[in-house]
Amino acid sequence: MKQGDVIAGYRITTAPTNANGGKCIWAFAEKSGTAYFIKQFLEPKRPKDDAADSPSLRIRRQVAQEFEERHRGIMKRLRPDAPGGGNIVLATDFFHEGSTYFKVTERIDTASLARPQDLEPRQKAILLKTLGTSLKQLHDIEVVHGDLKPLNVLVQKRDRAAFHTAKLIDFDDSYLAGKPPAPEDISGDSLYGAPEWRRYLRRDSGFGPDRLTCAVDVFALGLMTHLYVTGDLPGYDDKFGSPADAVNAGELLRLDPRLPDTLQGLLRRMTLADPKHRPRTAAYLKALSNPEACTLRPRPVRGPGPAKSPGEEGSTSGPRTSRVRANLGPRTGGQAPVPTDATPVPPKSSGPATPVGPVPSDNPATSAAPAATAGPRAPERPAASDTPPASRTSRVRINFGDRNRDRGRGTP
Ligand SMILES: Nc1ncnc2c1ncn2[C@@H]1O[C@H](COP(=O)(O)OP(=O)(O)O)[C@@H](O)[C@H]1O
Ligand SMILES: [Mg+2]
Repeated sequence: MKQGDVIAGYRITTAPTNANGGKCIWAFAEKSGTAYFIKQFLEPKRPKDDAADSPSLRIRRQVAQEFEERHRGIMKRLRPDAPGGGNIVLATDFFHEGSTYFKVTERIDTASLARPQDLEPRQKAILLKTLGTSLKQLHDIEVVHGDLKPLNVLVQKRDRAAFHTAKLIDFDDSYLAGKPPAPEDISGDSLYGAPEWRRYLRRDSGFGPDRLTCAVDVFALGLMTHLYVTGDLPGYDDKFGSPADAVNAGELLRLDPRLPDTLQGLLRRMTLADPKHRPRTAAYLKALSNPEACTLRPRPVRGPGPAKSPGEEGSTSGPRTSRVRANLGPRTGGQAPVPTDATPVPPKSSGPATPVGPVPSDNPATSAAPAATAGPRAPERPAASDTPPASRTSRVRINFGDRNRDRGRGTP
């Protein structure tokens, strides 16, 4: 796929990039006067219909078939014209050209919102409610998004609209509640993954597929809510690789003390280890119906010395470094130019590793994303403890933290 190509009638209008994506190259496209987002999957590849039969071909054919079935199954359940589904960005087309799969959705023009924590409480509540409503719609039909995180939420503000809305994207890792892909095939993000997802990956006994329900998304939504309202993820000890690991070890996540009690209580329940004890999205929406829930109390007065950021409250450790065991790259967080993108960025000091989203733009000259010119990112390596005892490699996305900030200027 390159700029100017026409693929199945879609004219590619921007230089393809893999910015903010893991398993795809994407670009904007145009067909019959409408703007689209088009995504080329790097894997799996679809074997030719007339390829010579062999055991390996049969496996690849089966993998491709399962991939198609999963995508078509989700598309059938989630129709773009479903009532009230306006903030769910669904596939409008899914096809293969030669051996390569493509997916198409409407193009979303994102608003500039680098710091949702600076919004007024009412603005925050509305942003979060639009996200919660989309999730509720999914959950009402027992679909788990499966990869909920800031990169998969685009923030939109229409010209004359008073409020920002959240658009939920990337249903490529979605599955029916209780029926996730096998541990070696399931995707997810190491930072936003739920405790039971981590254990499923490790094939811990008692953590079979039935444990992976919509509550997986509720855990991620709890973390994202903390991030959007305070600017940071909840705190946890550096010895843990992720919030889920801390929770699995029986630790309490450190919630920002400026949060009102109602929201603290809600987030505490949303991040419980036992998915059955987490609230459903309806309860989330109810709690956010009062913007007071997003009103921060003033910071506690401190003695001399620099104030700690919320993520460090009560922490004895220094600024949080990567919780990602596979983070090998230089840390550039905070040095990156002020993003003009739509994905919230937590502050450097308390540094939850939240990658930055792109600004869709048609001007390649503004792109600073190495990924935009360097071609597809090398396959990500799973963290050691995530490697299942199987011959196929895990598709779990390791959150590369600040490394991704450089990629974040992705301009297709
Ligand atoms: N409909 C869209 N409009 C504009 N930008 C989009 C759209 N869908 C995705 N993007 C951008 O492309 C990035 C990668 O897309 P995504 O579907 O999340 O791919 P992946 O499955 O590789 O994570 C997203 O993080 C977002 O920045
Ligand atoms: Mg994505």
